[in-house]
Amino acid sequence: SPIRGYVEMDSVSFAYRDGESVLDGIHLKLEPGEKIALVGMSGSGKSTIAKLIARLYDVNRGAVYIDGIDVQNVKLGSLRTKVCYLLQDAVIFNRTMKENLLLGNPSATTTELQRAVEIADLQEFVRRLPQGLETPVGPRGNALSGGERQRLALARAVLQNPSILLLDESTSALDAPSEQRVFMNLAQHFPRQTIVFVSHRISALKWVDRIIVLNRGVIEEQGTHDQLIRNGGLYAHLHTAPSALSAAQLPSQVSGNN
Ligand SMILES: Nc1ncnc2c1ncn2[C@@H]1O[C@H](COP(=O)(O)OP(=O)(O)O)[C@@H](O)[C@H]1O
Ligand SMILES: [Mg+2]
Repeated sequence: SPIRGYVEMDSVSFAYRDGESVLDGIHLKLEPGEKIALVGMSGSGKSTIAKLIARLYDVNRGAVYIDGIDVQNVKLGSLRTKVCYLLQDAVIFNRTMKENLLLGNPSATTTELQRAVEIADLQEFVRRLPQGLETPVGPRGNALSGGERQRLALARAVLQNPSILLLDESTSALDAPSEQRVFMNLAQHFPRQTIVFVSHRISALKWVDRIIVLNRGVIEEQGTHDQLIRNGGLYAHLHTAPSALSAAQLPSQVSGNN
């Protein structure tokens, strides 16, 4: 049966190395169509949750279900088309922009390509290129800026049309207004899809249906922006003291974790 985008993590615990617990007893249900933000200091487990949903790793305890089926029993091929996990460093191939986009959907029409480019806020850039979408991007996309590579990967993900889209700091090289625009474009374009947003600019995530706040591998609190501000807990602290967040970003950048 087709994946609709219902995600359940049931009592999930996980460690990359024996004895070093990274997630501890996570219970989480994401409804189809829900727009979710994962927030927390660097190392709190945001990326690990995304990776377990995409089944890049298997849980140690508990289970992850997508539309009621344990991901360990879903064929990886079907999981990879239905769940799209985008990281900071997108995989870009030494081909043209268009060929990179078509990897998301080889039968995409010109209109669909154009639409995806607009959702990723890449249309101005493409318009200025003499060869437009036929422009080669170089090895690993090195003819593009970091932000352009991220937008290209986003546009490709739009064409892939996943049921579950996991955006793990995948807009980190965009400026704040552009990141906000792209988030809104995605939410509008994918009303029935489940989207999980991770961004170090938590102010870009105020509008989501639900914010889940992680602290050292456990869910500390969750709710809307207004509820969490009223709670006066970790989220309110992170939100009003951005220095706490940026200081906390350092270890992950140094160790290269996403
Ligand atoms: N591949 C890995 N091997 C070992 N430890 C890892 C790996 N990836 C992440 N970790 C550790 O797991 C914890 C959670 O990391 P992560 O999920 O990447 O947090 P976040 O995305 O919130 O910054 C951190 O302590 C991190 O150092
Ligand atoms: Mg991360």
